[in-house]
Amino acid sequence: MRNISLIFKQFSKSLLLVAGLAICSLSANAQADAAKGEAIFKSKCTACHKIETRMTGPALGPQVTQETDDKYLTKWIQNNQALIAAKNPKALKIYNEYNQANMTVFAELSDADVANVLTYVRGEWKKMQDKPAAGQAGSTGAAAESGPSSLLIWGLIGVIVIAFIVILVLNKVIATLERLLLKRGGLALEDEEVTEVEAVKADRLADVKRALKNKKLVFFIVLCGVIGLGSWSWVTMWNTNVHQGYQPVQPIKYSHKLHAGIMKIECQYCHTGAFKSKNAAIPSLNVCMNCHKVVKTESPEIHKIYDALGYNPETQKYDSTKARPIQWVRIHNLPDLAYFNHSQHVKVGAIKCQTCHGQVQNMQEVYQYSPLTMKWCIQCHKRTEINSKGSAYYDKILAAHDKIKKGEKVTPAMLGGLECAKCHY
Ligand code: HEC
Ligand code: HEC
Ligand code: HEC
Ligand code: HEC
Ligand code: HEC
Ligand code: HEC
Repeated sequence: MRNISLIFKQFSKSLLLVAGLAICSLSANAQADAAKGEAIFKSKCTACHKIETRMTGPALGPQVTQETDDKYLTKWIQNNQALIAAKNPKALKIYNEYNQANMTVFAELSDADVANVLTYVRGEWKKMQDKPAAGQAGSTGAAAESGPSSLLIWGLIGVIVIAFIVILVLNKVIATLERLLLKRGGLALEDEEVTEVEAVKADRLADVKRALKNKKLVFFIVLCGVIGLGSWSWVTMWNTNVHQGYQPVQPIKYSHKLHAGIMKIECQYCHTGAFKSKNAAIPSLNVCMNCHKVVKTESPEIHKIYDALGYNPETQKYDSTKARPIQWVRIHNLPDLAYFNHSQHVKVGAIKCQTCHGQVQNMQEVYQYSPLTMKWCIQCHKRTEINSKGSAYYDKILAAHDKIKKGEKVTPAMLGGLECAKCHY
């Protein structure tokens, strides 16, 4: 009995110590890391990289968040040329993607330096995504989705603390019982003479065996295991099929930053559907031809448009037999079981594209800004106030309500039941 309570004491002490140390070192480290990383990033990387947008090199935020293999990233940053020479498939892929532009070799950076840079970039990127777009009151964007992790961690800490208290209480009970037992058995004297230290040394093995037989201890260990495994699979399941940050390479280097940002072409010039129907839709290449019949006709990227349409810039004629449509890679993709309608949000709800898609006009290449999870939809629906003034949609509904109150005839048609998107996907 005595030994079990000793084991408990030692066990709880060392656990407390480890936990304390871990918390201290974690918080201290994270701060030092990011600050050092920032200095390196600003002095060595900003010439070619930004965190959020593509420049000469890729947007580092999404890039190093998607690529989680830190060993590979470290090798790449320290000496990308070596990786390319060794024909590393990942390195070759990105090298070709960026038209074999060369990144500087940073042999002088230690592994720790690189780790600091990665910590900084990932941290900044996370902050940017957590922040809602400026100037949009009530917008949730990615901010709504802080994910289950923080809640989970606090939950876990709570469970561990409770388990500790239980251990301590049990410990006290055991000690009291022990004293009682010893008094009754009259063994008190005999036992007291052996010093505690010797007792521990003598039967360590027996202790372990006894500890294993102790149902409470075994139960506690199993409980920890179950909680650990459970939370791991919980987090994994939460993140399955969430493609936030997804940024595929498109067949034509079309830039929203140039067209929608610098040239200020309105979103609806190309994505007319967003105001009228369920789908925003990707514009047909004929829309591009409004300008590119004459603009940048020598560019190989623009020639991809010509090829896709079977257009011959010399004769200015289309040959539909030679046309082979561009395969834009779809970025946003809700599963079929969810119905989302753009016009309902953009036209009736007057929600800006940027609330859901981020600052597209600053993106060289579009990426998925919002998580597109059910939680994301629901949170916005709970927080956003609708504006019914001057909206034909609500005027219709209010008129119908009046009629219902007066007992007049109301048909589905009066409630928008003739709109194509109500019945068609
Ligand atoms: C001279 C321009 C230049 C500088 C400076 C530069 N990079 Fe790059 N980086 C590139 C280019 C270009 C690519 C795309 C691949 C290629 O063409 O080599 C790239 C790619 C990357 C990648 C993607 C690798 C992958 O496979 O996912 C990472 C990560 C990266 N750079 C990190 C850094 C860091 C960190 C620094 C600063 C220490 C830095 N870069 C400085 C030009 C640069
Ligand atoms: C000149 C035409 C044009 C204009 C203007 C334009 N876009 Fe696009 N947009 C495209 C094309 C082409 C694609 C498909 C290629 C791509 O993803 O970059 C696209 C793709 C997108 C996508 C990703 C679609 C997917 O695959 O899920 C979003 C979101 C988007 N645009 C939003 C906007 C917003 C918001 C604006 C206004 C700030 C805007 N666009 C202005 C042509 C345009
Ligand atoms: C309102 C006119 C307009 C429309 C519509 C338009 N563009 Fe452009 N685009 C331009 C202009 C102007 C430039 C050149 C800017 C410059 O001088 O670098 C350009 C540049 C480009 C470039 C870069 C070419 C290069 O080599 O630098 C690509 C690629 C491109 N556009 C693709 C598209 C695609 C794809 C569409 C259709 C979805 C489209 N553009 C629609 C005006 C337009
Ligand atoms: C309330 C959030 C929200 C707003 C506001 C919004 N979108 Fe979307 N957008 C989405 C969702 C969700 C999808 C994915 C739809 C799907 O997969 O069926 C999407 C998909 C797209 C696509 C991919 C093609 C398609 O039609 O599915 C384009 C392009 C697009 N949006 C452009 C725009 C433009 C331009 C605006 C502003 C006029 C806008 N969006 C406003 C949430 C929004
Ligand atoms: C940025 C906030 C926002 C987000 C994100 C958002 N919605 Fe909405 N949604 C609204 C608002 C506001 C309305 C009400 C528009 C109106 O009728 O005035 C609405 C209305 C709707 C309606 C019509 C409800 C009705 O009774 O008529 C549906 C369906 C809907 N949203 C689906 C979705 C889905 C699915 C998603 C996620 C993929 C989503 N929404 C994401 C703001 C949002
Ligand atoms: C009240 C629901 C409803 C509304 C509103 C509605 N439709 Fe339909 N539509 C249907 C149904 C159901 C079918 C399938 C009929 C069948 O298969 O015989 C259909 C079939 C179609 C078809 C034929 C598809 C095919 O494969 O043969 C087209 C085209 C069509 N609708 C277009 C529209 C347009 C455009 C609007 C808006 C002006 C609209 N619909 C509004 C219910 C509706």
